[in-house]
Amino acid sequence: MKIVSYSCKPYDKKALIQVFDASWDSLYLDVLLDLDTLAYAHGAEVVSAFVNDRLDAKVLKILAEGGTRLIALRCAGFNQVDLQAASDVGISVVRVPAYSPYAVAEHTVGLMLALNRKLYRAYNRVREGNFSLNGMLGFDMHGKTVGIIGAGRIGRLVGKMLKAFGCQVLVYDPFECHACQELELEQVDLESIWAQSDIISLHCPLTPESTHIIDTDSIAKMKTGVMLINTGRGALMATQAVIEGLKSQKIGYLGLDVYEKEGALFFEDHSTEIIQDDMFERLLTFPNVLITGHQAYFTQEALSHIAKTTAENIKAFQTKQPLINAVKVE
Ligand code: NAI
Repeated sequence: MKIVSYSCKPYDKKALIQVFDASWDSLYLDVLLDLDTLAYAHGAEVVSAFVNDRLDAKVLKILAEGGTRLIALRCAGFNQVDLQAASDVGISVVRVPAYSPYAVAEHTVGLMLALNRKLYRAYNRVREGNFSLNGMLGFDMHGKTVGIIGAGRIGRLVGKMLKAFGCQVLVYDPFECHACQELELEQVDLESIWAQSDIISLHCPLTPESTHIIDTDSIAKMKTGVMLINTGRGALMATQAVIEGLKSQKIGYLGLDVYEKEGALFFEDHSTEIIQDDMFERLLTFPNVLITGHQAYFTQEALSHIAKTTAENIKAFQTKQPLINAVKVE
């Protein structure tokens, strides 16, 4: 069985090789899946892909014509896949539902602390022999109200960690969150999240309902000086509206691990190029913005879990077992 894995960095390949069946004809490619790179997948029954690979109707149709029957996502989110189109051409889609919620939750709290206490600025200052504390004033996390959007595995963990800091934690989720009561996370409506939160953190999937959940209207309802954190998906935020919010100082801090147009930038070294994305470059000019390049998931534990579950998903497909991690059209 031929398997082509796209967006495969050396660390991904190392983890996958350890668990992929030796009898599989595996090709590991360090390129994005798109119309230009599709030819590699011709004849591959299984295509393995990651967050920024292109899996729209056009690509899926060509993949199906080439013999592909399974898309094995090496991530939890599946917003990059046109599920209806996959179903129409007879391709099943599987994912890794929860590789390490701890990795993402810990990174999220790390962004909050780094922004609040300006750790990213302190690093440079101290190395330059500048021990001045001007501009470094932070606030106690204790007693602050944090609003979490999406009370799933990651959102609840972030809430639990922040409870340990002494924060009041509000959560918004369209479904009733029974586990939240036990953790003393208060489920509220979105309006209360906007109005009451000192920090707002995004942990919902990207869907038509959640796209641009942070926009001009919601920003207007927030507290002045609010800290916004997005380790969910880039398009949960309307970036231009966030830039306006930073300029007007309505937004006091911004921490991002994901970005609306990250596909053209993230996971590659562009340090010797002229970056053409003016919106991204504008974000980098603010002293109160901290961006990481979709690395919240990136721990040893998560990488080996992703590889193991991907191998199990493919094995289940090969042996015609139920695909327990299948994603289906709702
Ligand atoms: P999960 O499926 O356990 O939880 C998602 C929660 O969001 C569910 O409770 C769901 O009811 C809720 N939700 C759905 N639509 C919503 C809406 N419109 N508003 C508010 N809540 C809504 O997912 P998990 O594992 O907690 O992951 C959350 C997201 O984090 C993923 O969808 C993915 O986009 C992102 N992620 C980011 C990573 C990174 O490296 N930066 C790594 C892994 C996940």
